[in-house]
Amino acid sequence: WGPTGHRTVGEIAQKHLNKKAEKKVRKLLNGKSLAYVSNYMDEIKSDRKYDQYKPWHYVNYPFDQNYAQSQKSKNGDIIVAIETSIAKLKNPKTSIDEQIMYLKFLIHLIGDLHQPLHIGLESDKGGNDFQVRWFNNGSNLHRVWDSDMIESFNMSYTELSTNILDGKIYDKTLVLGTAAEWADSTHLFTATLYKDIQIGDKLGYNYSYDHFHEVQMQLYLSGIRLANILNEIYG
Ligand code: ADE
Ligand code: ZN
Ligand code: ZN
Repeated sequence: WGPTGHRTVGEIAQKHLNKKAEKKVRKLLNGKSLAYVSNYMDEIKSDRKYDQYKPWHYVNYPFDQNYAQSQKSKNGDIIVAIETSIAKLKNPKTSIDEQIMYLKFLIHLIGDLHQPLHIGLESDKGGNDFQVRWFNNGSNLHRVWDSDMIESFNMSYTELSTNILDGKIYDKTLVLGTAAEWADSTHLFTATLYKDIQIGDKLGYNYSYDHFHEVQMQLYLSGIRLANILNEIYG
């Protein structure tokens, strides 16, 4: 996701933290909110020192496979990254600086795990090589889902998170599962997106109308699942 998507996930998670987790997270983040730190992992991409973490934002595998069956990258992927981050946060031997880093990573990565084009196909680099137009501008399928649809709604992350949570009843079965299971369920959804679109298509109001409720659902699942993980680690 782009900045607004990640901040929305952070805000939804923040509202679902229990007291103990809220206190611990506030201490590690020096008083900053989950929304505030949610884009840290994208901000460090321009620093060569962090190059090893670039493959941690996504995983690609064929639509006729699940994650368990797929060939694993030697550089790691978003599943390995999430499992590593959780293990680091649970380990009492992890230094405070590392705890801060892996907490910021986890906040970001649970969001990316629910962006359908982050669980995509290698052939088009998760939609980055799938060129389309967004209204009259050049874009690609990845960017449409990261940010174009979200930005065209012109809502702040606080407005968007309120809008998403409005009228939703918390269903605790939605937070069950592992990162690999959530990736597989995102991936089944990703496959459906390729059925009604072709390279060069002009997307706009109709595409948003068809898919913005799915964007909102994915951001919601990210937020409540992130909160549940943090409540389990710290609560
Ligand atoms: N680079 C290659 N595949 C990608 C994906 N699925 N998401 C983001 N960046 C990528
Ligand atoms: Zn992306
Ligand atoms: Zn990312």
